[in-house]
Amino acid sequence: MQILITEFMDAPAVEALRAHHEVTYEPHLVDDMPRLLAEAAKCDAIIVRNRTQVRGELLAALKPCTVVGRLGVGLDNIDTSACEAKGIRVFPATGANAHSVAEYVIASAMLLLRGAYASTADVAAGQWPRPALSQGRELAGKTLGLVGFGSIGQQTARLAKALGMHVTAFDPALADAHPAFAQLGVTPCTFDDLVSAADVVSLHIPLVDSTRGLFDERRIAAMKKGAILVNTARGGIAEERAIADALRSGKLGGAALDVFAEEPLAPAPHFAGCPNLILTPHIAGLTAESNERVSSLVANKVLEALR
Ligand SMILES: NC(=O)c1ccc[n+]([C@@H]2O[C@H](COP(=O)([O-])OP(=O)(O)OC[C@H]3O[C@@H](n4cnc5c(N)ncnc54)[C@H](O)[C@@H]3O)[C@@H](O)[C@H]2O)c1
Repeated sequence: MQILITEFMDAPAVEALRAHHEVTYEPHLVDDMPRLLAEAAKCDAIIVRNRTQVRGELLAALKPCTVVGRLGVGLDNIDTSACEAKGIRVFPATGANAHSVAEYVIASAMLLLRGAYASTADVAAGQWPRPALSQGRELAGKTLGLVGFGSIGQQTARLAKALGMHVTAFDPALADAHPAFAQLGVTPCTFDDLVSAADVVSLHIPLVDSTRGLFDERRIAAMKKGAILVNTARGGIAEERAIADALRSGKLGGAALDVFAEEPLAPAPHFAGCPNLILTPHIAGLTAESNERVSSLVANKVLEALR
């Protein structure tokens, strides 16, 4: 059978697929729509990351295809109901990059609370900004509010608890009696209480109609003064301009954004002059280790589905 891979995948996992099937692996095919459509028309399975839009024209071109492998977990680039209607099964890499994202959240929260790690140039230049940087905050004892308590939310809670944080979480799909709360020592919370009480708010929810713009100017105004906001979920859930304004006004004490409404992010003057801001190019879930786990998990699922 024919497998088409349109974005980068770990080499040993590609070889595992090649051992059983004919594989077309072109990590940049996502950027060449005419060729992508031509190759799609021939494949029995397609493997994508988050940039290939499995909908509309591409979905129509996927004639013999019965399997979509997703090298990641968010499914907002895949029209899952249209896939289902066509009899195409979708396999995400559930849980395989959760630890990478959780470490990113904790590392960002520590850096932003401390607020002292941008001093390299000043220190090397012989300045000694010690008084200005002596009011950093500790992570231990602070409250982390997790919006979404699925695999990444729960893994983040594990790390945060080990470092002495109080952790609250809101997830409409989990009853307060769900064992995950008690097992991890996490307090279930209403959304409003979480937003107003947390020192660090971290988002771990899918982008759907009901979560688009969830952290807008009004919601950010309801956060604690000086709180940190971390968005590794999806751009569009937290509004970039509202975050930038809140950083400049001092309402937010820091923010880490790994995801953006438009990716790649074009030059973004709205972030100019924002203090204590970390911007990364959608890599929270992407490490050498997670790439290996995600790729081998998806390769195995696709192999099994084609059997
Ligand atoms: N930046 C990255 O590299 C990266 C990597 C992996 C995942 N992600 C993003 O992180 C998100 C979370 O991933 P996951 O593996 O934990 O998914 P998951 O499906 O295991 O958990 C998501 C949870 O969010 C809950 N939820 C849905 N709507 C909610 C709402 N309005 N308020 C609170 N909770 C809500 C769901 O009930 C579910 O428990 C993904 O949807 C994806 O968009 C980003």
